[in-house]
Amino acid sequence: MTMKLTVLDHPLVDHKLTVLRDKNTPSSLFRRLVSELVTLEAYEATRDLAVEDVPVETPVAPTVGKRIAGPRPLIVPILRAGLGMLDGMTSLLPTAEVGFLGMKRDESTLDIITYANRLPDDLSGRQCFLLDPMLATGGTLVAAIHYLHERGAKTITSLNIIAAPEGIKRLRETVDPSIDFHVLTCALDDHLNEQAYIVPGLGDAGDRLYGVV
Ligand code: URA
Repeated sequence: MTMKLTVLDHPLVDHKLTVLRDKNTPSSLFRRLVSELVTLEAYEATRDLAVEDVPVETPVAPTVGKRIAGPRPLIVPILRAGLGMLDGMTSLLPTAEVGFLGMKRDESTLDIITYANRLPDDLSGRQCFLLDPMLATGGTLVAAIHYLHERGAKTITSLNIIAAPEGIKRLRETVDPSIDFHVLTCALDDHLNEQAYIVPGLGDAGDRLYGVV
């Protein structure tokens, strides 16, 4: 078993997600809710972050605390919609480095095209966090996971807002079984429609984040 799946189960997540799904929710509120959901998700996603002991002096006595161990964790939003998740993630993990991966689906062939890459070549020892709100067919995430793994990533964790069962199945069947990775989502929805939109979903996350109509 290479894939760990976590579907968040929390009243705050459910409430915020319902407002997010509403087609009448404006972009400004949509962006804020995405940030808040990611921050809640990030708390779970960083549970296994490596830490090291560090001496600290309180006003009362010296003691030993913990701090996030190096090398710095790497946050990788997948452009464009993943960018909407970046603030929520960095607010909880401000010392992380941020890289970018531009991947999109060719709407006619449904193939994944990598059109931008601003990541360190060597990811040895790096704990990597991929951000992409909609895990639909899973094609983008499969490509991104293989990409990070080939460059030596130590751990790969994907934060999503909504996932489709078809995408989860594809990850299980297509990602190289030697790769361990963790997928978190705020909801696991019903299915994909013929246009590969998640049902009930929330529509096109990029358009709703950035106000394209
Ligand atoms: N991407 C989106 O933005 N929405 C979906 O429902 C599926 C993929």
